[in-house]
Amino acid sequence: APIVVLISGTGSNLAALLDASRAEGSSYEIVGVIADREAAGLAHARNAGIPTEVVRLKDFPDRDAWNHGVRLAVDRFAPQLIVLAGFMKLFGPELLEAYPDRIINTHPALLPSFPGAHGVRDALAYGVRVTGATVFVVDAGIDTGRILAQEALTILPEDDETSLHERIKAIERRMLVDVVEQLTR
Ligand code: GRF
Repeated sequence: APIVVLISGTGSNLAALLDASRAEGSSYEIVGVIADREAAGLAHARNAGIPTEVVRLKDFPDRDAWNHGVRLAVDRFAPQLIVLAGFMKLFGPELLEAYPDRIINTHPALLPSFPGAHGVRDALAYGVRVTGATVFVVDAGIDTGRILAQEALTILPEDDETSLHERIKAIERRMLVDVVEQLTR
């Protein structure tokens, strides 16, 4: 099944999805990668010959127009599933209404704990002993949709935000590939 991946950053989740899509019997194909900026992760797509589109907020008169630009970019790839993999912008209802229940996201915390852009930092700051990662269906809220997969890990005394986030991302990569395989089988 054709999927589109949306990124904003290094794209390690995208890289994992790309690698897994090349495996024998993989049930999905990444047909396009869309970013809201010239994200470093776009290199993974370009090296693999996958079309990319950068849809920058500043290139549009307002947020609604940007939302429409993202929607049109997604439509051009005609995906069965949209995967947000480190996409750091909130988008409005248009994309959700166009692809109901077909947008999934990954978050580096055990939702509903620590939603938002700093889940790893917030968990560390709170002093929880266990955190983890969540893959969920995107709905109109912020990190509030139906949970599809979660896995916990223990925070180490020497952890800082970077080391903890790297260990969480290792969980995310594995969970995201499993969920995408299941949804596109
Ligand atoms: C992931 O931890 C994702 O959950 C969060 O940002 C990170 C993106 O990492 N929103 P990458 O760009 O896939 O390496």
